Amino acid sequence: MTTTLRTPRLTLRRWREDDVAPMAAINADPEVMRWIGDGSVCDRAQTEAGIAGWEREWRERGVGLFAVECRETRQLAGFAGLSVPAFLPEILPAVEIGWRLGRSFWGQGLATEAARAVLDFALRDRGLARVVGVHTVGNAAAEAIMRRLGMRPERETTHPAYGLPLRVHVIEARS
Ligand SMILES: CC(C)(COP(=O)(O)OP(=O)(O)OC[C@H]1O[C@@H](n2cnc3c(N)ncnc32)[C@H](O)[C@@H]1OP(=O)(O)O)[C@@H](O)C(=O)NCCC(=O)NCCS
Repeated sequence: MTTTLRTPRLTLRRWREDDVAPMAAINADPEVMRWIGDGSVCDRAQTEAGIAGWEREWRERGVGLFAVECRETRQLAGFAGLSVPAFLPEILPAVEIGWRLGRSFWGQGLATEAARAVLDFALRDRGLARVVGVHTVGNAAAEAIMRRLGMRPERETTHPAYGLPLRVHVIEARS
């Protein structure tokens, strides 16, 4: 089963040991983390545990978050991929699309490029019937990407742990 995706500018691949440091730098940036959870940054140990968890998802479920690498520079840009939104029981069972890129990779269409490849992987390669996207209300960049992907707003709710307003978008496979 393929777990490497290529787009014109990006390679989406499984995680390696040497991804920990660049991903930890992305996770330590308050501007990147502003709309994630309660907005706290993550340290290196949390990043290392996160990557181990994402690799476990790949092994156990056959879906997960890809490391996103620039084809030209081989630099790690961040992640994009699929996860189970266990933090939001009211929408389960569900598979969620998500992404997080370092600040120097914003404003170039790279997140949309990665997300399109992930959505295609989810709906065509893995044959999922529907994919959701969840963002904090106010995260305009994330909402714009969901709209560009053809996802539609489905419900508004509140983050069970942090009490923040959330919007859930959805897209279904064409039958
Ligand atoms: C979400 C996030 C990846 C969005 O980044 P982004 O750069 O706005 O999104 P894209 O990569 O799709 O780029 C779109 C922008 O690039 C511009 N752009 C430049 N060249 C482009 C190209 N070749 N193709 C498409 N867009 C291009 C677009 O005009 C658009 O800019 P605008 O928003 O000013 O109109 C980024 O904000 C992020 O990582 N945030 C932190 C994590 C996060 O919030 N994740 C989502 C949680 S739900």
